[in-house]
Amino acid sequence: MAVEIKSKRDIEKMRATCRLAASVLEYIEPFVVPGVTTEELNRLCHEYIVKAGAYPSPLDYHGFPKSICTSVNEVICHGIPEERVLNEGDIINLDITTTLDGFFGDCSDMFTVGEISDEAKTLIDVTRRSLWLGIAEVGPGKRIGDIGAAIYDYAGRKLGYGVVEAFCGHGIGRQFHTAPQVSHRAKRGTGLRMKPGMTFTIEPMINVGTHECDILDDGWTAITRDGKLSAQAEHTILVTDHGYDVLTTRKGGYTPG
Ligand code: MF3
Ligand code: CO
Ligand code: CO
Repeated sequence: MAVEIKSKRDIEKMRATCRLAASVLEYIEPFVVPGVTTEELNRLCHEYIVKAGAYPSPLDYHGFPKSICTSVNEVICHGIPEERVLNEGDIINLDITTTLDGFFGDCSDMFTVGEISDEAKTLIDVTRRSLWLGIAEVGPGKRIGDIGAAIYDYAGRKLGYGVVEAFCGHGIGRQFHTAPQVSHRAKRGTGLRMKPGMTFTIEPMINVGTHECDILDDGWTAITRDGKLSAQAEHTILVTDHGYDVLTTRKGGYTPG
C-alpha cells in the first residue's frame, strides 16, 4: 500500500490536530489523582475535544465505546474507561486521538497516581526513552525498520523488558490507521524508506515481564499474560527534508537529554 505524502496544507492541518491532541494530555494531567474514575477522565477529555471543534476519534471506531483509551497497570493498550477508581500507586496510559478538519492526531503518555513503586518509575522512564530512541531514527532516506531496531535493542536486548509485538505504530493523516506499519521490534536496514511529508506514529508498549498479551472478553482491553506492569508512550511524527518533527509535543512532556 502506498504511503501518502502530505502537502504543505495537509501538514498545517496535521500540526493543528496534533497540537490539540497533545493539549488534551496537558489539560487532563491534574485530574489524574486517587479516587477519580477512568470514566470521569473520559468525560472531561470528551468535553474538551468537542469544545475545541474536534471529534474524539476512538468513539465508535470499529465499535470502541468511549472517547479515549485508559490503560491501567497490567493493561497494555485499548483500556475502556469505566467506573473503576484509580488508587495510589497505579500507573495509567491515556491515549488521545482527535479528528480536526478531517485530520487525525494521535498521542499517549503515562500518568502516575500518587506515589508509585520504583519498578513502575523505571518502566515509565524506559518506555519514554525507547520512544525517543525510535524517533531519533526518523529521517528522509532512512528505513522504517531502524525505528523498531533501536527500540528493541535498548528496551528488549539491553534491559530485558518485554517489547509488545501485537500492536504497532501506524501511518496517520486523513485516516486513523493506514500504511506504513511501524513495528517496535524490527531489523536494521529493513522496511520502507522514509520520505519528507510522511506522517506516522511511534508508540512502543513495554512490559516488565513477558511481551505476550491476552485480549479480554470486551474485545478491546489488551493485558499482559503474566499480569505484570506495562507502559506506553506515543507521538505522531512528520518526516521533514532534514530529519523529523514531533507534532504532539506538549508543555511539561518528556524530552530526552
Ligand atoms: N489511539 C490508539 C492508537 O494509538 C488506537 C485506539 S483505537 C480504539 O493507535 F478504538 F481503541 F480507540
Ligand atoms: Co496510534
Ligand atoms: Co494512540
